[in-house]
Amino acid sequence: MYIENPFIIKGYAGKEYFCDREKETYTLLKNILGGSDTVLISPRRYGKSGLIFHAMAELKNLHPEFETLYVDISATSTLNNFIDSLSSAIMNTFPEKSSLGKTFLAFIKGIRPYFTLNQYTGKPEIHLEFSHEEQKNNTLRQILDILESHSSPVMVAIDEFQQITEYPEKNVEALLRSHIQHMHNTRFVFCGSRRRMMSSMFNDAARPFYASSSTLYLNKLDRDKYGAFIRGHFEENGRTIQEDALDYILDWTKRHTYYTQRVCNELYFDGARNIDMPAVLRICNNILETEGFNFLMLKEILPVQQWRFLIGLAKEGSVSQITSASFISKYKIGSTTTASRAAESLEGKDLVLKHTEKDSVSYEVDNVFFSRWLEAEF
Ligand SMILES: Nc1ncnc2c1ncn2[C@@H]1O[C@H](COP(=O)(O)OP(=O)(O)OP(=O)(O)O)[C@@H](O)[C@H]1O
Ligand SMILES: [Mg+2]
Repeated sequence: MYIENPFIIKGYAGKEYFCDREKETYTLLKNILGGSDTVLISPRRYGKSGLIFHAMAELKNLHPEFETLYVDISATSTLNNFIDSLSSAIMNTFPEKSSLGKTFLAFIKGIRPYFTLNQYTGKPEIHLEFSHEEQKNNTLRQILDILESHSSPVMVAIDEFQQITEYPEKNVEALLRSHIQHMHNTRFVFCGSRRRMMSSMFNDAARPFYASSSTLYLNKLDRDKYGAFIRGHFEENGRTIQEDALDYILDWTKRHTYYTQRVCNELYFDGARNIDMPAVLRICNNILETEGFNFLMLKEILPVQQWRFLIGLAKEGSVSQITSASFISKYKIGSTTTASRAAESLEGKDLVLKHTEKDSVSYEVDNVFFSRWLEAEF
């Protein structure tokens, strides 16, 4: 595949452009081959979707008999949307002439869908209409049956799975779980970035998906491996990167995959032959300048205490005692109640990331560029 820039900031472009994740890929494949479903969880933009694409490519490589299906349900808000997304993914993944494609199309045509073209991808999308709940549930079961009765095993990855908790229909989790638990030919990977929602869906004994899958938490990439990956791609292009410049990138972006990739992508585009500290600082500042407009808008919208709370987190880097007297007075946050409320509200808005360890929690600003910008501006 020809690629203009080896530092991908969208999707997956093959294993040359994918750093490490060997252990995680191994675990995913082991689960799939061993017959268990997996829940894949990490903060936003760490590389869950990338890992899914990578694992799918590896699975196809090692076991060509497997079929793989990726369904992104981030834009769905009803069970009906879910069925449409699943159907569209099946149609766009399995060619009309393949046996799965043929069976599926014959089925779907029988329930009179209408088609539209996705304005971003240009791919066709299926829309189904149901006159009553029963028909909707039956259709879902029949579609899953088609996957399940395929002659070879199918890996199905559902991205942004927590979305199903937002559907207005009752008992969606129970309904899906009741179908999925009888599937043996189909292996699922459920992926999501809302840790609290995903965890409670799979770890709460009262919920249908309880203990149904093994959990895989994705952490940051290994520092040495990521460093070698970055250096390698610059050198392949006849360029060099100085040690202090490389260290600075990994620190400044906190090794949060998307942000590290973004900085490297822009540095690569920038074209300097020898990448030194001034080159890196220039790129980082450019990014903050461009993104700064959006961040300033947030200042207008957010209550002042929440804004100060964010500044506090950004300046400290990471805070575990958000209700401590010193943190609250240093950043003029008000009271312990305001601090706790700010944390909860900002976490809900995806502006704050809460890390939960065995016996401690810590908070940081979710968007690394926003964090660096706050740190520099205030
Ligand atoms: N191992 C990797 N090596 C290099 N680039 C990666 C790797 N993993 C992910 N990326 C890149 O980092 C960016 C973020 O990854 P990705 O979209 O997979 O994250 P995510 O966890 O699915 O995010 P979200 O929570 O927003 O869905 C993407 O541009 C992706 O191409
Ligand atoms: Mg993703």
